[in-house]
Amino acid sequence: MSTPRHDTIAVTGATGELGSRVARHLAERDAPQLLLARDPARLPRLRGAQPRGPAAYDDGEAMRVALDGARTLVLVSGRPTGRRLEEHATAVEAAVAAGVERVIYVSLLGAAPDATYRNARDHWLTEQYLESAPVRHTIVRAGIYASTPASLADHDLVVRGPGGSGRTAFVAHEDIAAVIVALALDAPDDHEGAVLEVTGPEALTLAEEVEQVALASGRPYRYEPETPEEAFDRRYRLGLSGEQIEAWISWYLAIAEGGLAAVTDVVPRLTGAPATPVSAIDWWPPPGRAS
Ligand SMILES: NC(=O)c1ccc[n+]([C@@H]2O[C@H](COP(=O)([O-])OP(=O)(O)OC[C@H]3O[C@@H](n4cnc5c(N)ncnc54)[C@H](OP(=O)(O)O)[C@@H]3O)[C@@H](O)[C@H]2O)c1
Repeated sequence: MSTPRHDTIAVTGATGELGSRVARHLAERDAPQLLLARDPARLPRLRGAQPRGPAAYDDGEAMRVALDGARTLVLVSGRPTGRRLEEHATAVEAAVAAGVERVIYVSLLGAAPDATYRNARDHWLTEQYLESAPVRHTIVRAGIYASTPASLADHDLVVRGPGGSGRTAFVAHEDIAAVIVALALDAPDDHEGAVLEVTGPEALTLAEEVEQVALASGRPYRYEPETPEEAFDRRYRLGLSGEQIEAWISWYLAIAEGGLAAVTDVVPRLTGAPATPVSAIDWWPPPGRAS
């Protein structure tokens, strides 16, 4: 039997957009991996990848069993606003119990206790938890996905919200995945305890970003600015919870503030390739997918 060239890497969220790309890149590099899912039947079938689960982040025992044999865990963050800390902490505790030595956590750019974007406050809580967790870790703060405006658009392809004229360095899923894979495979010790901010190559206003999405996707997306009051009224009438409304409006307000505009060198430095401009992205989600 041949000895694997790499330690076994566990990847969560591999039924989703980011985790599936990480898994595909790892398979292309012949890395042995465990793919964890709540529904393993939905996992991609990849060379060198074992499906594991069912394992939800908040089920510590199922996570521990599913992680058996892994040395590194790529923890793609879960979605429920306000529950991320509990879910992620349970997953990390299970990883430690299973013998995982290193966690790469996918956080969010701007994570801070006083962040404007609601979800960035959520991610900060997990980052704080990791600071004192008994495991080596690297935090990957993913920039705002270039694809998000396409999923926020309504069925007439209109993106409405209070995005103002602040700039944001929107980033491609593929680039974030490539950074994670470089971390997982190539430079395990160099980035211990590091916080890496992964951005696209240019800072765009939301209006410019939506224009670029339209060009790249070939679909006529357009942006219509709203005031925060108009945005609130529209979402409230849709019957969304206060938490959902806050998460949604604060995404636009964080962009309007311009605090996510810095372009970092993380993508070229770790992957050896330039970050992908929005105009060159070739995958776009259908409209109406984000709530
Ligand atoms: N940077 C940004 O702009 C941005 C934008 C949106 C989201 N995010 C964050 O980035 C994460 C990854 O993004 P994505 O595009 O890959 O999202 P996605 O396509 O919705 O995938 C999320 C993945 O996480 C899994 N997951 C969610 N909650 C889980 C739980 N409690 N236990 C186990 N697995 C769970 C999902 O599994 P199932 O298939 O079972 O649901 C799915 O595989 C999101 O979950 C969110 O936290 C970042």
